[in-house]
Formats: sequence, structure tokens, C-alpha cells
Amino acid sequence: MTTEQINKEVEKRRTFAIISHPDAGKTTLTEKLLLFGGAIRLAGTVKGRKAAKFATSDWMEIEKQRGISVTSSVMQFDYSGKRINILDTPGHQDFSEDTYRTLTAADSAVMLIDSAKGVEAQTKKLFQVCRMRGIPIFTFINKLDREGRDPFDLMEELEEVLGIRSYPMNWPIGQGRALKGVYDRRQSRIELFNGDDHSTISVEDVKGYDDPLVEKVAGEHLYKQLREELELLEVAGDAFDMEKVSRGELTPVFFGSAVNNFGVQTFLDNFLKLAPPPTPRKSETGVVTPEEPKFSGYVFKIQANMNPAHRDRIAFLRIVSGKFERGMSVKHVRVGKEIKLSQPQQFLAQDRDIVEDAYPGDIIGLFDPGIFRIGDTLAEKSDITFNELPVFSPEIFAKVVVKNALKHKQYQKGIDQLTEEGTIQVFRTIGFEDTILGVVGQLQFEVFEYRMKHEYGVDVALQRQPFQFARWVVGEHVDPTKFRVNSILCHDKNDNYVALFESEYAMRTAIERNEKLQFLETAP
Ligand code: G4P
Repeated sequence: MTTEQINKEVEKRRTFAIISHPDAGKTTLTEKLLLFGGAIRLAGTVKGRKAAKFATSDWMEIEKQRGISVTSSVMQFDYSGKRINILDTPGHQDFSEDTYRTLTAADSAVMLIDSAKGVEAQTKKLFQVCRMRGIPIFTFINKLDREGRDPFDLMEELEEVLGIRSYPMNWPIGQGRALKGVYDRRQSRIELFNGDDHSTISVEDVKGYDDPLVEKVAGEHLYKQLREELELLEVAGDAFDMEKVSRGELTPVFFGSAVNNFGVQTFLDNFLKLAPPPTPRKSETGVVTPEEPKFSGYVFKIQANMNPAHRDRIAFLRIVSGKFERGMSVKHVRVGKEIKLSQPQQFLAQDRDIVEDAYPGDIIGLFDPGIFRIGDTLAEKSDITFNELPVFSPEIFAKVVVKNALKHKQYQKGIDQLTEEGTIQVFRTIGFEDTILGVVGQLQFEVFEYRMKHEYGVDVALQRQPFQFARWVVGEHVDPTKFRVNSILCHDKNDNYVALFESEYAMRTAIERNEKLQFLETAP
């Protein structure tokens, strides 16, 4: 494979994640995007996700009982000469470190916001991970067909809550019942929303917003408002600056209504033009670019028993460089062994297809008989080690008590494996040697309890602890006695110091009292 051929494939690809708060319309938007790719067969599957997954991926009782999905998928489709990979970020109660880790496999993010609700809690958390990585973020403000907030208010909120400037690519002409359409600022055209029959939506080229057609469409009152708003944007708004977009400092904003398929295609077309093709990744020996002819990639997620018909684990690998071919031999760098990748899978909504070849930006699922860990690197004849996956700070904590002490060996095995999969983080309190589990989402505790019992035969009880924050403590002379007020000092699995705090106040106090120490949000 020549660099030129790989370049061609890389240039074609866009790999992104949609970040949003539950109910903003992520499923709906994903479904519409897949429709553009001609993947109509899947639309029902995705839309009916809540019900359909119930039936098809009942890999665990918890999932059935709660009617939610613990699994998350990667969807691939072709559109307009591009190959698009959408990474689904689990939300709702199944929010977990997996959700964060998935973002490390994306080259850009689409932030979906409900126009009535603005920036919500989960969006904020996910945004911060994207910010940490410095990836471009595109914003889709959804549900324009409903009464929502003032668009200027929403822009202000992006700036104040998230600290990101915005550039509206289009601007609503009315809202809710009065929605007439959007004015496309970049391409000087209007997209009409037909409120009576949502299926007919037309696009008209205009000569700027002075064009009589704009006034005709908007009506006298809305037109006056539109003019004023667009003038204000021109005078007081940010200019479009592609470099700032690339650095994640300026977000292009699109208004639309996913359920009515309004503004979605315009969004997709622009997104594909502006979003980056697969980007390089950092390794311990320097940056690895996608054009590098030798294959490399890293595992960002491990999923157990995804399909009840096969009791297997699937390791999700993001390809960083080179060409992947089915059956190829690669080096499993951590264990220092060659392995043959014979059953790779690619994901299309619920379906799993065997993949013959794949390129940077693609995600493949590897059959895992228990040899992979989160963060593992696979590389063709080389010793690259990617370090893209930070250990994220957990937010919910519980002490583990084993009900039957004789099962200690199985318990340890379970703890080790579930830590490797990234289901839980384990901390040992200094002095007491208690085991405390840390997670990002409550469901991870339920998964832990369930799997301990059903896979390892160990009954455990979890006692919730009042801590809310974890920080890795780095420096000389870490003194456990200084972590006694509403906090506790522990070791993580690599014997790093980690302090758990009950409140932000307790954390601030500890930081002030330990001036010489560093408090890190991700593991050192
Ligand atoms: P999520 O994956 O982000 O959780 O959201 P989802 O797509 O399931 O959408 C949440 C609800 O918002 C759905 O309604 C969906 O139809 C609705 N929705 C999505 N986009 C728009 C939009 O542009 N305008 C309006 N008015 N609603 C929108 P639901 O009643 O919960 O479900 P359903 O019975 O309609 O499927």
C-alpha cells in the first residue's frame, strides 16, 4: 500500500461523535444522517432503539429490566463521496467512562442542543472532554419547530457555560409555530420550512438578506427582526475563522429540526467540508500520522458479551495509521507478541459485518478472548505505544464488601478483569485497606454487582460513600494526615496517590493546604 493510496482513503473519512444531553434528539439526528447515506433499512432500527435493543441485545438482565442499552455502537455509511463513522456516546443512566473514552476515538464532535433547554449537564461534561483534546466542535441547535430560547441567549450560554465562541452558519426566521425557515449566512440562500407538510422543504438562492424574496417569505414583522439580528451578528459577532474552528475555539452553529429533517442536509454538507479527516495520535515515541503506511491503532473500549449468541468480548480499535487487512498479523505491543486478526468486525447500527479492510479513522471490533486492555496498541512490526487514553476522574464511589470471604480468589479475578475492561476503577484506602470503587455512572455499579455474581460467583454488597471528586495527588511527601477532613487518601491500582473528597470545598481546602502537591483530574 503506497502512502498515496492511503492518503486517498484518509481524505475520504470523517469520524465523529455526537455529544448531547438525553432527549435533545441524538437518536433522531443519527437516524436522519443515516438516511442520507442511503441506509434506509436501518432508520427504523435506530429510531426504535429503545424498543428494538430490548429485543436484540439483551446481553444482560439489567439491560432488560431497565429497558436501556448498555452497549453503544459505531455506525458507518457513505455519503457524497465520503465515508462517515459516527461513534455513539452512551447517555442516560448508562453514562460511563466509556462515554468519555469513545470521544478519544473521534476527530471532531457534533454538539446537539435542544433550543428550549440550552446547554445541559451531560453536554457540559462531554464538551469538557472534547475541549481537553482540542478537537473541532460543531453545534446543531435542534427543535426549532418548538418554542425555544432566543438564539442570542443560546450563543451567550455557549460562551458563558462552555467558554466557546460561536459562529451561526444560518439563522432562524421565526421559531416554533411561526418558523418560516432559516437564512443561510454562508451561502446566501434561504431554506424554507413548510409547517403544514414537513416533507416539502425547498431551498432558494438569494442575493443577501436584502433580497425581496427573504422579505416575502418572512413577512413584514419577522423580516424586520431578521434584518436587525443579522446586522447585529455582522457588527458584533465573531468572524468565521477556520483555524479557530480547527482548534475547538469557535463552533459553527446550525439551527434546524431533526425530526422534520429540516436543516439536516445543510448541516451534513457543511460539516463534511469543515470537519477534519482522521487526525494524528500521540504515542510515547512521538506523533503517528494517518499516512504512515504501517498499520497501527489502539483499543478504546472493551465490551463484554455484546451478543448473547457468542459469549465473547469485543475490543473496539480505532485505526490510526496504515491499512488494515483481515487476517493480518500485528504486534500486541504491551505483551510483546504477534497476533493474527482473523475475525474483525465493523458495525452498522445493530448489524455486525466481517470487515476485509479498513483505514485510519475506521473503528473495527476485534474478537477478544481476554487478551486486550483499554489503551492497548496494535501495530504492524513496530513498538509504538499510543497514550491517548487518560483515566478519567470518577464521580460516584462505593465500598465493596464480599459476602463470602472464601470466594476471595474469584473476587480478585473479577476485580482485575472488570478494571481492565474499564468498568470500574479500584482504590485502596491508606491505613484501612478498604476497597473503594469509583465510577462515572451509577449503572456501572449495577453491572459490577451483576457480573461479579453471574460470571465470578461472588456476592458483593456495595456501600455508597459520600465522596464526589477524585484527584490524583503528585509530588514529594504526600501526607495522609492532611486528608482527613471530608476526604480520604487512597492508592490506585498502580500505587499512585488518589484523594477522594466529599465536596468541592473540601477539595479546595486540601489544595490550599498542600501547596507543593499537584492535584490532577486524570491519572498521571
Ligand atoms: P435522544 O436520543 O437525544 O435521547 O433523543 P431522541 O432522538 O430520542 O428524541 C427525544 C424526543 O425529541 C423524541 O420525542 C423526538 O421525537 C423529539 N425530537 C427530536 N427532534 C425533534 C425536533 O426537531 N422537534 C421536535 N418537536 N421534537 C424532536 P419523544 O416524544 O420522546 O419520542 P417519539 O415518540 O417522538 O419517538
